[in-house]
Amino acid sequence: MKTFLITGGGSGIGLATARVLVEEGARVVVAGRSPERLALACKEIGVETVVADVSKLSDVEALMETVGEVDGLFANAGVGVFAEFGKITEEDVDRVLATNFKGVYFTVQQARLKPGASVVLNASWTVHRGFPGASLYTASKAAVHSLARTLTAEMPHVRVNTVSPGYIATDMFHENVEDGEPFRRQVAMGRLGEPEDVAHVVSFLLSERAAYVTGQDFVVDGGLVGAIPA
Ligand SMILES: NC(=O)c1ccc[n+]([C@@H]2O[C@H](COP(=O)([O-])OP(=O)(O)OC[C@H]3O[C@@H](n4cnc5c(N)ncnc54)[C@H](OP(=O)(O)O)[C@@H]3O)[C@@H](O)[C@H]2O)c1
Repeated sequence: MKTFLITGGGSGIGLATARVLVEEGARVVVAGRSPERLALACKEIGVETVVADVSKLSDVEALMETVGEVDGLFANAGVGVFAEFGKITEEDVDRVLATNFKGVYFTVQQARLKPGASVVLNASWTVHRGFPGASLYTASKAAVHSLARTLTAEMPHVRVNTVSPGYIATDMFHENVEDGEPFRRQVAMGRLGEPEDVAHVVSFLLSERAAYVTGQDFVVDGGLVGAIPA
């Protein structure tokens, strides 16, 4: 049985991915900060859970000790701070980079990856197209995007890819957007993404079906980046 670790797996895209992988017969461990969220995930889909804050190296080390060797890792935990460039504070920068970049960096560095393992990092569509208010968030995701390509070259015994979700209807999206309608209208397919839309792409990248795929970014956005809606 394959073992997969998902950070930020207690909700949204991470939880949907955990559900897909469990349905496919894998052992799945999900990590996150909130014990309540993790308890719900455990009850709902029967995954193993570990409370860990990926912005702290000591938590990441303890997480890897608990989980042991893995066949695949989805470094998905992330936070969003969206504000005008001039209004971003030092505290915002420290908080976002601590989870979105430092957290992902040490999660991959510390993971006990079996030879042939697959690593998927969660980036964002904003890496591909400027979006007002996303200077800090996008910079953190561009670093993740860059990391994947360097690691592809440096660690050829594993595969490393990124997914770049578009507007996905999760807690993060709804916490930052009052009215989803103007966002929906920017998407060629005319709908917001569901967490499952991303989960199926991640499950493909984690699987043997993607055995010759590495160093790539998969934009899962219903045509947000690639097209002007009719
Ligand atoms: N939704 C979108 O439109 C969209 C678009 C592009 C990219 N993304 C990316 O997708 C990923 C998942 O986000 P989501 O949309 O599914 O939103 P979400 O439901 O808010 O999921 C984020 C998860 O990350 C966990 N998390 C946050 N900080 C953490 C930390 N320091 N340590 C461990 N876990 C942490 C949260 O749980 P706790 O609070 O319990 O820790 C939560 O379960 C993020 O990286 C996000 O940037 C989302």
